[in-house]
Amino acid sequence: MSSTGVRNHKELVLPELIAPAVDQALEECAARDLLSFSPACFGTILADPPWQFSNRTGKMAPEHKRLRRYSTMSLEEIMELPVARIAKPEAHLYLWVPNALVQEGLEVLRRWGFTYKTNIVWCKIRKDGGPDGRGVGFYFRNVTELVLVGVRGGLRTFQPGRRQVNIIRSQKREHSRKPDELYGIVEACSPGPYLELFARHPRLGWQQWGNEVQLPDAEQQAAKGSLPAYEGTALPDGTASR
Ligand SMILES: C[S@@+](CC[C@H](N)C(=O)[O-])C[C@H]1O[C@@H](n2cnc3c(N)ncnc32)[C@H](O)[C@@H]1O
Repeated sequence: MSSTGVRNHKELVLPELIAPAVDQALEECAARDLLSFSPACFGTILADPPWQFSNRTGKMAPEHKRLRRYSTMSLEEIMELPVARIAKPEAHLYLWVPNALVQEGLEVLRRWGFTYKTNIVWCKIRKDGGPDGRGVGFYFRNVTELVLVGVRGGLRTFQPGRRQVNIIRSQKREHSRKPDELYGIVEACSPGPYLELFARHPRLGWQQWGNEVQLPDAEQQAAKGSLPAYEGTALPDGTASR
């Protein structure tokens, strides 16, 4: 891994027939890769796993196969990630979970060594502030997504947590991209060091891991003045170094 904390498996765009084999290889590689972090080194972990949606027969829902935008992992594979090993004995976990998979999310949280305490709701709004009803849903049209919050070792949130309401109201962006507001909440309420699992977009001060982690666009960010100039360089394998 580079000193920027970015871990990037190579993204693979492959025909659907061989995709399952690639997923399998990625997952094995994912678990091994996580083990290369030192044990008990993160105070807070934020994760947005690539959940697999299955239909009543247990097969992956065809609409999800068709719309497949990134590789997914089975529930068992997600549960087996060695998160418990790399989290500190006193730690917080923020876990994004689709509305249809809340039970599975609670099980993952438990298997990763955390106790469920509360949640944060992301309410997707339109420009005019009304609910963004473009989402899908079998029973209701979803305009919310949920973050399960788990605790290990009885650690409370910091003082700002007492004033922090458990809702984020913001507009949707690209497919499956989560709101940046959550980083601010985590940083104010939970201890570092911070690790984001299944990350895609760079965030200063975080270790990020996933097969689609993007490098910070130094010039763009520096020009906007939103981030200090990034001094790293991209390596040929898609990782970065400073
Ligand atoms: C739900 S998306 C994360 C979206 C991200 N939180 C955002 O806001 O843009 C899940 C991510 O996990 C990645 N992923 C899937 N299988 C993986 C694996 N075996 N190892 C690492 N990352 C994987 C996907 O490519 C995708 O980028």
